[in-house]
Amino acid sequence: MLLDSDVLTDRYRRHFGSGRAALGRLIGDLVEVESSGAWITVADGRRVLDFGGYGVYLLGHRHPAVVEAVCDQVRRHPMASRVFLDPVSAGAAAALAEITPGDLDLVHFVNSGAEATECALKLARAQGKTAVITTRAGFHGKTLGALSVTANGVLQQPFRPLLPHIMEVAFGDPAELEVALRATGGHGCFIVEPVQGEGGVNVPPPGYLRDAAELCRRYEALLIVDEVQTGLGRLGRWWGVDADGVVPDMMLVGKGLSGGVMPIAAVVATRESYEPFARDPYLHTSTFAGSPAVCAAARAAIGVIRDEDLTARAAMLGEHLLAGIRTAVARYGGGRVAQVRGRGLLLGLEMASSGLVGELFLNLLERDVLANHSLNAANVLRFTPPAILTTDEVELFLRALAEALEDLTLT
Ligand SMILES: Cc1ncc(COP(=O)(O)O)c(C=O)c1O
Repeated sequence: MLLDSDVLTDRYRRHFGSGRAALGRLIGDLVEVESSGAWITVADGRRVLDFGGYGVYLLGHRHPAVVEAVCDQVRRHPMASRVFLDPVSAGAAAALAEITPGDLDLVHFVNSGAEATECALKLARAQGKTAVITTRAGFHGKTLGALSVTANGVLQQPFRPLLPHIMEVAFGDPAELEVALRATGGHGCFIVEPVQGEGGVNVPPPGYLRDAAELCRRYEALLIVDEVQTGLGRLGRWWGVDADGVVPDMMLVGKGLSGGVMPIAAVVATRESYEPFARDPYLHTSTFAGSPAVCAAARAAIGVIRDEDLTARAAMLGEHLLAGIRTAVARYGGGRVAQVRGRGLLLGLEMASSGLVGELFLNLLERDVLANHSLNAANVLRFTPPAILTTDEVELFLRALAEALEDLTLT
């Protein structure tokens, strides 16, 4: 039974708080009821093209192969005893290790991207790497440890003091990284995204990760690459690190690993950097992490990305969209868009002001297109569409964007 949107808003206010309820009101009290492919259906039957999803829906919504794998697993054995051996999580780990670069073979499943960050920071600390270098505008999650390396003063301020010995450097600048690494005295690690997502879709200069890897080696620091948003094909290759041919000490995976169906994330590490957890498997655990149901989703998602060649599709669609967005902005942007940028299916429009982000978001929604804001960059509207988009859906989006920009210019 569907709830009247006023009743639902009241429930939101009572149980989730007034802020979340007000947010729902602001976007028109749309109530989501189902989803399929690139589309979300809301209560009145209206369909919205999902170019948001915070990077989760690379396979679109409810990909049949993932749904089938999860339903089958749920019917047989959804959660493990955590005492016996579980073939499903082992299968998902093997599938993940097979597609990660180099000798990243050790897999630790967790429930979210933030937990992947926690896990990596703990692995680093257990090896004496207690100083952490992060990048300005970098985003790595909101749990207390992850928040310490998420460079957003507004999110951090209420929770200080956070982890000690954190340094921030400019994203894309190896010289500044070197200064910070030198200061760690061999007790450091560097956490970085291949392309900053929440930071406003910032693409570093070519070779940045290669330089960073070389510097980390020189100063005996661990390199943690956060591929939670960029990994598994979103950037048009399996991993963001592939552009520079880099193998980090640890890689964080999330979002797309879910197949858009079940929440799962992971740390994938080299044998050496995983040693503390290999020695003591109880050092860092979580009851629900890596259960058969979520691992069935991860295994199926990896299979779909490979079988449907979604990495190549993401590259092709991304190029087409980037060119189309640039054309629309040149024609209809009216000077209100400062820059269009992105790689693969991680695309951003930097607006001349943060107010324009909200306006463009609502203009697009009026035309049945959902976008996302960027948590660490208020002036950037972000698109992370699925790699299963059809030509018609791409055209529909570009038409909606042109109209939404045109409206913006006239207001
Ligand atoms: C690069 C990156 N790392 C970590 C996270 C945190 O993931 P989660 O929201 O699943 O905790 C995000 C989420 O947006 C992210 O983009």
